[in-house]
Amino acid sequence: MEQEQDLNTPYFMIDEQKLIANLEQARQLKQLSGCKLVLALKCFSTWGVFDLIKPYLDGTTSSGPYEVRLGHETFGGETHAYSVGYSEQDVIEVADMADKLIFNSQSQLRAYRHLVEGKASVGLRLNPGVSYAGQDLADPARAFSRLGVQFDHIEPSVFDGLDGVMFHMNCENKDVDAFVHLLDVISERFGAYLNKLDWVSLGGGVFFTWPGYEIEKLAAALKAFSQRHGVQVYLEPGEAIITGTTDLVVTVVDIVENEKTTAIVDSATEAHRLDTLIYNEPASIGGASEKGAYSYVIGSCSCLAGDQFCEAKFETPLHIGQRLRVLDSAGYTMVKLNWFNGLRMPSIYCRRENGDIQSLNHFDYDDFKRSLSQWSVH
Ligand SMILES: Cc1ncc(COP(=O)(O)O)c(C=O)c1O
Repeated sequence: MEQEQDLNTPYFMIDEQKLIANLEQARQLKQLSGCKLVLALKCFSTWGVFDLIKPYLDGTTSSGPYEVRLGHETFGGETHAYSVGYSEQDVIEVADMADKLIFNSQSQLRAYRHLVEGKASVGLRLNPGVSYAGQDLADPARAFSRLGVQFDHIEPSVFDGLDGVMFHMNCENKDVDAFVHLLDVISERFGAYLNKLDWVSLGGGVFFTWPGYEIEKLAAALKAFSQRHGVQVYLEPGEAIITGTTDLVVTVVDIVENEKTTAIVDSATEAHRLDTLIYNEPASIGGASEKGAYSYVIGSCSCLAGDQFCEAKFETPLHIGQRLRVLDSAGYTMVKLNWFNGLRMPSIYCRRENGDIQSLNHFDYDDFKRSLSQWSVH
């Protein structure tokens, strides 16, 4: 059996116990509300732990053709397929694997619905025009959004023969009242259309596993929405399922001074924790303390000048060779790993409830090389 101190860094460690704690909350939400939950694979696709998740959720949802196949092959249950833009070939392939196929626009729906009918339930993404999202980059209701059909563009005839719709308008929404308000806007604006449908997916971004979140209030609102419109309600959680479950474990390889002290670690946000960089949201380090007397920039070992995990204070000085745990590193990380700079790719492990550590993935130089070319010109 592997001992954690013997593992080479960098690596991700998924903690089964913490994952199950989130999933128990998901189960409670389903039981209280009658809604169904499909895992958003865009956020977390590490299929090696899907056997732990399957008993709690109803299936998966996807954003591209390979995610559909992965969900179908490795998770099962209901497979929802959505894409911002399908090719005809995508639709043909996906229709055989999906239970629900959701188009992003009326033009895609018109062009391809004949390829889906009789195989999968047909859906359309609508843009509610309102949202709860901290940053413009992640706001589906931002100006000129291409995500879903705007209310005033709806051609009522498309609802003939449509089975369901999907809205996605939240990003890490920890405020249940704000979500309920969005639901009310949707009911008011789109209610007449929704009443004709079998199902409505309300997308992801509802942070119901956040400490103190009022799950009962959310459940009551979802149940009322479902009854009001006579539809099966779905949520598409990603981050809420895996939040707080996973550390990225790194080693300090150097400490350098330039007005601030930087501890350089054997990982980089640009390659291994991309959203830290994209959204400029500093990571948290296990064992750091606001009151600590020793301040460090936790610097990446990529070549990008501004690539850092965070600034953090510690009660004792850091030293070369010390391991640090970058907390809460499961969502939108392992799905976005890349080989920039030829850095070592983090391995992926799961710590089981009984303490055993199981390996889920390991990458080496051959994976790096193959990702670049498989054949030379000749
Ligand atoms: C359509 C859709 N569904 C679900 C999700 C998952 O969101 P989250 O991981 O915040 O729950 C997203 C995230 O962007 C999304 O775009």
